[in-house]
Amino acid sequence: MTTHTGIAIVIGASHGIGLAMVRQLLTMPQVGRIYACSRQALLSESLTVLAQQHPQKLQRLSVDITVEADIVKLANEVREQDQQLHWLINCAGILHDSGRNIRPEKRLENVDTAQLEAIFRVNAFGPILLAKHFLKLLAHDHPATFATLSAKVGSISDNQLGGWYSYRASKAAQNQFLKTFAIEALRRAPNLTCLALHPGTTDTALSKPFQKNVSNEKLFSTTFVAETLLAIIFGTAASESGRFLSWDGSEIPW
Ligand SMILES: NC(=O)c1ccc[n+]([C@@H]2O[C@H](COP(=O)([O-])OP(=O)(O)OC[C@H]3O[C@@H](n4cnc5c(N)ncnc54)[C@H](OP(=O)(O)O)[C@@H]3O)[C@@H](O)[C@H]2O)c1
Repeated sequence: MTTHTGIAIVIGASHGIGLAMVRQLLTMPQVGRIYACSRQALLSESLTVLAQQHPQKLQRLSVDITVEADIVKLANEVREQDQQLHWLINCAGILHDSGRNIRPEKRLENVDTAQLEAIFRVNAFGPILLAKHFLKLLAHDHPATFATLSAKVGSISDNQLGGWYSYRASKAAQNQFLKTFAIEALRRAPNLTCLALHPGTTDTALSKPFQKNVSNEKLFSTTFVAETLLAIIFGTAASESGRFLSWDGSEIPW
């Protein structure tokens, strides 16, 4: 598609914040096509309904960002169909799993190599592999954005409470990958804006077990978060690339 409309990819689109991003992007006339991706993208009932309503605009793809071959396949698909990409929004992330094998560590004794690996593969390695395989598609004469959802608990200077070793460290690693990528992108893709974004505590499966002590006004809906983060994604220029921003646009210290 080489019209004035742009092409978007949302990773982690089957539910939570990513699904709300897809819904919102579908209403935006400047977005010509959306690739909605996750491991279960083809099994998500919500995405299936949206794909039936928007057969030209929405394409679902099964992608696991811990598998580099899946990312390569997705990049090839976009290259063949659209030649370039304008927004890559990575909303994939894990904090715990439903099987309760993975859960945030309360104390040092809970630190476990298998859990560290599993969380780092999704939260840290996934985003930088996406950058590796999509840089060329994002490097063109038009503005483009690479946005990846981080978390304030990944801020080292903001860490007052401790705990959650693997999640915190994976998000800190993601932030360092993003910052390093943004520096290389200045030279290789001058129109690209690279952002790490904190959505705030959002009512999704990821935060569900930890919502007890969160007041109603501090627990955001996915619709609100998608709107606020997309306003940042669509409103931030390449001159501001390499930043870690909160949902309200404020800067979070690394
Ligand atoms: N919710 C919050 O309060 C909160 C706060 C701070 C930061 N965040 C961050 O925001 C992001 C989105 O969180 P959320 O609350 O929307 O989580 P969620 O509801 O659990 O959704 C996570 C999404 O990631 C996908 N996913 C997981 N592993 C994947 C993989 N290996 N490959 C591809 N997709 C994968 C899941 O789909 P499949 O199962 O189909 O793969 C799902 O669509 C995460 O990075 C999270 O750390 C969330």
